Amino acid sequence: MQICVISGSPKGEKSVTLQYVRFLEQAFPEHTFSVIHAGREIRTIEQQEEVWNGLLATVKECDGVLWATPVYCTLIPAQLKRFIELIGTRNAMETFSGKYTAALTTSMHFFDHTAHAYLHGICDDLGMRYAGFCSAHMEDLRKEAFQEQLILFFSDFLEAIAEQRPIQRVFPLLPVISSSYIPEIPPVTVDTHGKRVVVLHDAEPGSGQEAMVRQLAACYGGSVLVAHIRDSMMKGGCQGCCRCAFDNTCIYDDGFLAFWETYVVPADILVMAGTIQDRFLSATWKQFFDRSFFNGHVPAFEGKQVAYLVEGPLGHLANLREVLISLVMTEKANLAGIVTNEPDPDEIDAALHALAERSVRLSDRGYIAPVTFPAVGGHKIFRDEIWGGMRATFKADDRYYRQHGLYDFPTRNYLQRIGTRATSLIMSIPAVRREVVKNMPTYMIQPLQKSIETSTVLAKRKAKQ
Ligand SMILES: Cc1cc2nc3c(=O)[nH]c(=O)nc-3n(C[C@H](O)[C@H](O)[C@H](O)COP(=O)(O)O)c2cc1C
Repeated sequence: MQICVISGSPKGEKSVTLQYVRFLEQAFPEHTFSVIHAGREIRTIEQQEEVWNGLLATVKECDGVLWATPVYCTLIPAQLKRFIELIGTRNAMETFSGKYTAALTTSMHFFDHTAHAYLHGICDDLGMRYAGFCSAHMEDLRKEAFQEQLILFFSDFLEAIAEQRPIQRVFPLLPVISSSYIPEIPPVTVDTHGKRVVVLHDAEPGSGQEAMVRQLAACYGGSVLVAHIRDSMMKGGCQGCCRCAFDNTCIYDDGFLAFWETYVVPADILVMAGTIQDRFLSATWKQFFDRSFFNGHVPAFEGKQVAYLVEGPLGHLANLREVLISLVMTEKANLAGIVTNEPDPDEIDAALHALAERSVRLSDRGYIAPVTFPAVGGHKIFRDEIWGGMRATFKADDRYYRQHGLYDFPTRNYLQRIGTRATSLIMSIPAVRREVVKNMPTYMIQPLQKSIETSTVLAKRKAKQ
């Protein structure tokens, strides 16, 4: 069979993910593999029609399409996102429609599930027959047990093609949001109390996004910096070279760093506005996120209030919502809110005003919401990966993790370890164990009740009342 591999890595032949494809090529010599370097060649693909037509011909002739891509910032690299946008804007969906497809990624398993859900949704939208996915850790190929599983994954994909397996669509079609939002002018303004408010956007003139950005800026009473992310003058997408790992310095010498330092770093309240294109924000926003990787795993939004304005069907994109929320949480910021243009246009003014007010109030109070699973899990992944080996090159991360006590392995808590061992020994006495089992709920709440009794926070609050 003829397999067309769409490679998303900007590193081309030096891509980690592509080595998994090379493994498959050797494991299945009876099949042919043609690789489209969508990630590496995106500029040429954008600019040269014959290159675009050539790659479409490769897709047309193949029996199956394998997306082989790294996970970048919870999704696929911006370059591959752009490639997917081109399929839509150049009306090339027909070429992909009906093809069997599967996805192979490498990553550290941090938000690989959202990258896969995105790709699956895209394949469904293109009318492709999505047969399955394999999400590998970037080192997995070194293990023979994994190699066996990779072969099984690919065999299943080939069988799906051979038997023309019936495949159901999983992600429903997205509705078109036709909002007729006309902002109320002038809106009631909010006192920003001297907070630095920044709104970054990628709005087209006359778009719903532009209207929301203008109105929100007006709600802040004009004391707000508004900038189009195009003005960051990015020369290109993240190359994945990881040279930033040593000292958080990017190889690019363009306007991005100055833009970042002018707008993102000083912001107390950061609003990011975007328009949904396919199942994410634009490739330009994705490039902006990827380029912020120069910060490594040092939280770049720490202490900020962050909000989003989204034009498009966000209510139908749980995956995108998860990415947006998790980005805020893992960067140690607080989500002040998300306003979309989905609901009744008459509600948008009120929602924007409430967002402006709330973001200032939360910023005044320094509220950062306790995190949920994505940030807790993400912390443990990065802590283990950085300490477990990455710190040899990711020196900036290592410094930050040391300085901020982020190597918080439970094994380092010696008192707790001694306590656990002692309790465990006592639990081997049958009478004690019976007693504990009987009163387990009481034992679980005892330390919490003690915290309530001895709380100085509560004492101070009661004294004020
Ligand atoms: C800009 C950038 C962003 C990344 N984001 C993620 C991520 O969100 N989750 C993850 O698990 N790994 C992430 N990684 C790690 C890559 O997914 C991993 O190194 C992958 O194997 C690289 O594959 P490639 O060599 O084919 O590009 C990121 C790496 C880079 C350079």
